[in-house]
Amino acid sequence: MSRFLIGKEIIKLQSVDSTNNYAAKLLNEGVLSDGAVIMAHEQHGGRGQMGTSWDAAAGQNLTFSVVLKSLKIDLQHQFDVSMLVAVSLVECLDKYGLSPDIKWPNDILIDNKKLAGVLIETSLRGTMIKNLVVGIGLNVNQEMKEDDRISLSMALGHKLELDDVLDSFLNVLEKNVLKYVNAGYETLKAYYIARLYGVNGASVIEQASGEQINGRILDIIRNGNLIFTSNQGEQKNYDLKEIKFIL
Ligand code: BTN
Repeated sequence: MSRFLIGKEIIKLQSVDSTNNYAAKLLNEGVLSDGAVIMAHEQHGGRGQMGTSWDAAAGQNLTFSVVLKSLKIDLQHQFDVSMLVAVSLVECLDKYGLSPDIKWPNDILIDNKKLAGVLIETSLRGTMIKNLVVGIGLNVNQEMKEDDRISLSMALGHKLELDDVLDSFLNVLEKNVLKYVNAGYETLKAYYIARLYGVNGASVIEQASGEQINGRILDIIRNGNLIFTSNQGEQKNYDLKEIKFIL
């Protein structure tokens, strides 16, 4: 499939601190086209959500950032982009015969283990998002040592070409960006919720205090907050920093 936006320009780097940092720097210099993709063979300062680091063995995984300059999104609707990316990862992985879940907000899980993570960074103009840098780390051919991480090759039993996986993902992302622009939020949200971990069954969340609550997800609202109801029937609204899921 030939794309007309995402990945028309692909910059491949041997080694960089973080593809998100590199993309932000080039954006500042005004030298990146809309839809440009920066990918790195190796990151030596890969960043994860909430100040964590992202470790991926050189040459065995996908670590890349997609730059979006023309999505007209209000800051209040920033979470739409999280959903868009998570849904696109899931749809791409479905094509490999996998059936991953999304762990709110946008981790991708297989068998309750993390396969991919997303770090979205934005610059603003007033209340509108000006530029988006969508950083994605997808474990592809690495034999992960940690019990809570998995790679595509571990799930499928064979190795994959990194470029093929990237190409499949970029195709799906482009299709979904266009669909989002035309069909909007409700369609995207329905797909996101359908693949969300903890919606259909029981789940356990841990609050910042360490207290664990058994219950289930009732809904995700447009600002990205999660509505959780405990088994005792108490309903509460959480933002991204307040809880984590116990898998
Ligand atoms: C997370 O789950 O914590 C998010 C991980 C995001 C990692 C990717 S790898 C490519 C891009 N560059 C970075 O420094 N981080 C993101």
